[in-house]
Amino acid sequence: MPLAQPPPMGAQLLSEDTFADQRVYVTGGGTGLGKAIACEFARCGADIVVASRDAEHRQDGVNAIEAIGRRAVGVEVDIRDAGAVAESFDIVEAELGPVDVLINNAAGNFEVPAERMSANAFRTVVDIVLNGTFNCSREFASRRLQAGRGGAILNIGAPYAATGGPSTAHSAAAKAGVNNLTWSLAVEWAPDDIRINTLAPGYFPEPDRSGWVSPGAALDNRNAQIAERLTTLPGGRVGEARELGWLATFLCSPFASYITGHVVVLDGANWLRRGPIGDPFEPIRESFDRRREGGP
Ligand code: COA
Repeated sequence: MPLAQPPPMGAQLLSEDTFADQRVYVTGGGTGLGKAIACEFARCGADIVVASRDAEHRQDGVNAIEAIGRRAVGVEVDIRDAGAVAESFDIVEAELGPVDVLINNAAGNFEVPAERMSANAFRTVVDIVLNGTFNCSREFASRRLQAGRGGAILNIGAPYAATGGPSTAHSAAAKAGVNNLTWSLAVEWAPDDIRINTLAPGYFPEPDRSGWVSPGAALDNRNAQIAERLTTLPGGRVGEARELGWLATFLCSPFASYITGHVVVLDGANWLRRGPIGDPFEPIRESFDRRREGGP
């Protein structure tokens, strides 16, 4: 029997005024799991900042939040640029008010065997994932410290931060850095009631994209991919975006006010299943080439 299905979409973990009169700044909040998390905060009473490089993504995010009945502002930002991050916070403060919760969700990732990864490719992903997380966290915390107010930060991590990520060495190294930042900053900012945690999702197929950064991934084979992967997951099912939303809102809520400096993996125990003897091993470059050519 697989892990039980979660309550249906729209079921509420926290009450709808948990984040009343609060602003939640979500990087990459206009697509996929970032948008799902933003929507759950909105259902719990928050107004949302959709921070993204892409105008279309920003508009999608804003539309989704307004459909829930909350206020939303889209703000253009490249989180690699600390100055642009500061400017975006200025814009948001003027339009909505100070940011109370920060969700570091924006990321960049693609599969490529390490010996074929250019120095710029490695740098780009680390810059988005690790430096971007630091830039936003620093900006958020310095404003909260200056105002004498607490706050909550949630980073979106990855289970492979702890195990390594063959074929995504750049992302795995950057996500490991994000875990480490979580531990450092939790201690630095606990005296000021600023909490920081990391939520590391496993396989959560996104509602509006393939959700799987594989060389051959395409929208039309999403269901086939999910079906194929069910047999590889100990829990016998994939994660649902609303499960991420519930955990994200809980971790940033007053009900979690003693929880800081944690990395929570949400993947039905998939990342823990590695034993001394595993499945037949195929060199990364060979499996990459096989899948790029449309193989299984
Ligand atoms: N395979 C190999 N190298 C890749 C690559 C891929 N699929 N995608 C990008 N790169 C390399 C580029 O070639 C470039 O290196 P080079 O200058 O040596 O050629 C470097 O990475 C930077 O790429 P670029 O597209 O110029 O950077 P960007 O800042 O515009 O975008 C990403 C970076 C990661 C966001 C972009 O590559 C992307 O859209 N990735 C897929 C979407 C994604 O990551 N979604 C998030 C999933 S968690």
